[in-house]
Amino acid sequence: MNQSIQLAPSILAADMTRLGAQAREAEAAGVDLLHVDVMDGRFVPNITFGPLIVEALRRVTSLPLDVHLMIVEPERYLQAFAQAGASAIAVHLETCAHLHRTLQQIHELGCRAGVAINPHTPAAALSEVLPFLDFIVVMTVNPGFGGQAFIPEVLPKITQLRAMVEKNQRQIRIEVDGGIKPETAPAAVRAGADVLIAGTAIFNAKHTVKQGIDALRAAIAAQEAER
Ligand code: DX5
Ligand code: ZN
Repeated sequence: MNQSIQLAPSILAADMTRLGAQAREAEAAGVDLLHVDVMDGRFVPNITFGPLIVEALRRVTSLPLDVHLMIVEPERYLQAFAQAGASAIAVHLETCAHLHRTLQQIHELGCRAGVAINPHTPAAALSEVLPFLDFIVVMTVNPGFGGQAFIPEVLPKITQLRAMVEKNQRQIRIEVDGGIKPETAPAAVRAGADVLIAGTAIFNAKHTVKQGIDALRAAIAAQEAER
């Protein structure tokens, strides 16, 4: 896709006592989406938040809310997240026995439909559902926690997916999630990412949200020019 790389801060790393302010800071710094990591303590070891937080965010920002469901039986919660104000919902391939139906349900609820894949899941596992999805979330860490190291061995899979989506009629965005920092972002862009999701690189005590976003933007600018 020949357009500029989008940035999606993950609020997982935000200061939860100031969630609204942090979301507004990200919006003011010019990001494209807000990424919301939903974890159930079953598909992944950690537990985070549910529709209530999506609904709260919806009231403080006009950014599209990109909801990443790291939960088993995600089909049971699609309506709740859509009603709370999700703009896009990604389910994990590894949790869906009836993926096509689940994607259809997301569309029927008026949301963009995405599929997230773990580091071990091959690109080819998505080949039959490409016509039914709007975006792919390629995990470059094992889902469950923020602040983990980027797994560079996933890069060739991003390139493979890029080639697959270019052949598709539908415009499918490739989001890369996990360990994105100024040091790793250029490689993800080079491999074919459209959207970079970043938690700890944006929300941390070392700098402001805007400084984190500016540093990522600067790091990807050169790569972007080459695309
Ligand atoms: C991991 C989540 C990621 C995470 C990214 O399970 O899906 O979105 O918040 O955090 P960082 O950027 O710190 O790796
Ligand atoms: Zn995520």
